[in-house]
Amino acid sequence: MTVAPEATYRIAVSGPPPYPVYLEEGLALRCGALFAEHGVKRAVLVSNPVVGSLHGAAVRNAIREAGVEVDSLEVPDGEAYKSVSTATHLWESLADLQADRNTTLVALGGGVVGDVVGFAAATYARGIPYVHIPTTVLSMVDSSIGGKVGVDLPQGKNLVGAFYNPLFVVTDPGLLMSLPPRQFSSGMAEVVKAACVASSEFFAALEAREPALGPQDLDQIIAQAIHIKTRVVSEDPFERGPRATLNLGHTLGHALEAARGFHPMLHGEAVSLGMLAALRIARATGVLEEDYEARLTDLLERLRLPTRIQDAGWSRVVAALGVDKKRADGHLRFVLPVKLGQVVVREVSLDTVHEVYEGMLALHAEDEAVEPEDEYEREPEDREPAGEPLDED
Ligand SMILES: NC(=O)c1ccc[n+]([C@@H]2O[C@H](COP(=O)([O-])OP(=O)(O)OC[C@H]3O[C@@H](n4cnc5c(N)ncnc54)[C@H](O)[C@@H]3O)[C@@H](O)[C@H]2O)c1
Ligand SMILES: [Zn+2]
Repeated sequence: MTVAPEATYRIAVSGPPPYPVYLEEGLALRCGALFAEHGVKRAVLVSNPVVGSLHGAAVRNAIREAGVEVDSLEVPDGEAYKSVSTATHLWESLADLQADRNTTLVALGGGVVGDVVGFAAATYARGIPYVHIPTTVLSMVDSSIGGKVGVDLPQGKNLVGAFYNPLFVVTDPGLLMSLPPRQFSSGMAEVVKAACVASSEFFAALEAREPALGPQDLDQIIAQAIHIKTRVVSEDPFERGPRATLNLGHTLGHALEAARGFHPMLHGEAVSLGMLAALRIARATGVLEEDYEARLTDLLERLRLPTRIQDAGWSRVVAALGVDKKRADGHLRFVLPVKLGQVVVREVSLDTVHEVYEGMLALHAEDEAVEPEDEYEREPEDREPAGEPLDED
């Protein structure tokens, strides 16, 4: 049996241990061969009620078709459940199912399901194999690459976790057709980020897509973004250096995300604003060699991402930035664009960040260039935990 039909992209992600990402439209529905090829005999499929009801049965059947025994578990939907208690639920359920090291956990869902299931796999029985079948743009291009798994604490996001690579990843852009448009746009911000960090050609390819949010060539776009993250992660698997460049747009982005409180933004929306802010900071500090603000703004707007900040109050943003109050100069480390496809990491004064923040404020309601299409109201308990997020890319 061959691992995958010829049309399937196979992207090797470096270790430890290395693992393949298989990418093809419709692949989740015929992923059984991959499980057989990788020697999986028994699997426990974990999803949430939203993704599970849309795609769970089809994926379960596809895995079963290869003769793999499959049990199913569910975790609740939302960042609030990327928690130790969800991990405990998974550990105990696995024990009830008498799972052992010959059992493979399968995460069917976005970054939340992937992170918590990966963490349960990293820790149950001192580590069992897991497979991620990502179902959001963000999880396809970002969270399923690089082996970071973990859960949040009330004190902060991703505070408990591990570097633990999956056995393999099944990336099927067809699964994105059910994704709410606002989530789709949000994930595309990470795709734009990958282009800004590493490839002007890729940026031009994104600009050339018409419509910008259409399904055409999505497999190639996702493959390109994965290649970029893979390349950066391979150089720096444990995030000691170059991987930090993937945090373009994330320093201010995370702070805006945290400061918005009762009017939550999606992660990619905050990254969209953070990338534009980083570009303006790069200009203000003389780092920027090629000014691509107009092109970036245009692309983000076409992707229905925000380009103007709704004021959350500068003091709240400063608090969320976690500026060290003991340091009089109040400098922050920012990833700054130099030109399309190239960034540097620099210390930036809080005053500069403040000026850029003020300059990006939406002064009138109509200044908010893009209103999210489907207003995504999170439940109160679905708010991000407080505190500085740990090294998220
Ligand atoms: N491990 C890493 O390296 C890494 C990197 C970046 C982000 N993350 C983490 O990823 C998480 C965010 O992931 P996300 O943006 O995928 O969010 P998510 O997993 O919460 O998914 C977003 C929403 O979309 C729904 N959904 C998912 N797939 C769907 C589909 N195909 N159809 C319909 N609805 C669908 C989910 O149920 C959820 O309500 C955060 O916890 C973040 O910390 C991890
Ligand atoms: Zn991100």
